[in-house]
Amino acid sequence: MSAVKRVLVTAGAAGIGRAIVQAFAAAGAKVHVCDLDTAALATLRASVPGVTTSACDIGDRASVERMVAEAAVALGGLDVLVNNAGISGPTASVEQMDPDAWESVLRVNLTGTFNVTRHAIPHLKRSPAGVILVMSSLAGRFGYPNRSPYATTKWGLIGFTKTLSRELGEFGIRVNAVLPGAVEGPRIERVLEGRAAASGRSVAEERTAALANQSIKRMVAPQDIAALAVFLASDAGRSISGQILPIDGDSQSAS
Ligand SMILES: NC(=O)c1ccc[n+]([C@@H]2O[C@H](COP(=O)([O-])OP(=O)(O)OC[C@H]3O[C@@H](n4cnc5c(N)ncnc54)[C@H](O)[C@@H]3O)[C@@H](O)[C@H]2O)c1
Repeated sequence: MSAVKRVLVTAGAAGIGRAIVQAFAAAGAKVHVCDLDTAALATLRASVPGVTTSACDIGDRASVERMVAEAAVALGGLDVLVNNAGISGPTASVEQMDPDAWESVLRVNLTGTFNVTRHAIPHLKRSPAGVILVMSSLAGRFGYPNRSPYATTKWGLIGFTKTLSRELGEFGIRVNAVLPGAVEGPRIERVLEGRAAASGRSVAEERTAALANQSIKRMVAPQDIAALAVFLASDAGRSISGQILPIDGDSQSAS
């Protein structure tokens, strides 16, 4: 990267977000991270030199407003917003879905992303090359049986990305969505265990079935997604905006 980028990563204390934080820091960026998990934030501060953090619940409007202000102070402005926060929600048919659980997923994944972004935009407008990344999913390209709140929010984030790109292009801000498929790590293990419990098949059989839907027969590494994020935020990506970028081994279905 040419100039030192000032980067905010939401829900960056674990999983894909943590890999994104590590990749931006390794590329020389200044990174601020928010997360619900304060112990994980402390561990992150100890392992990534220079990273600053805020405790924040992305589903809480006041918490988000405070966090974005803290990030802008800690970084001295903002060039890159990585809207990584997103929760899985329950596994149940629409008919059986708990409406409170539905609202919780929408509050974090959609409304939380909206709130982070609207507070970040004034700072990004002052950047010479503002960038917003939105973490959608394979579930934002296909129907996903029994995961309706998750799929609905991940499709909604595509509309948000495309709309933001049109709104912010004139300010030199680029907006793109990243759509990971099955990612190595504890989250996919929980999903596979859930599917095995429902189907009566083994976890190994569920893993083989999941990979049968992909041209590239391996799960995505968090580092692959982090490398894509760093590229999109770099000046090499300066002509890319309003795009949805799957990174999923060419998956043909979300389940
Ligand atoms: N893991 C996958 O297979 C996969 C696939 C496609 C898309 N995604 C998307 O990538 C993003 C990150 O996924 P992940 O699997 O790395 O996540 P994860 O479940 O590992 O959680 C990452 C972090 O989110 C934090 N978090 C949870 N709720 C929060 C809240 N309300 N406010 C602030 N922080 C909160 C957790 O404390 C944790 O540190 C999500 O948007 C997810 O939907 C993940």
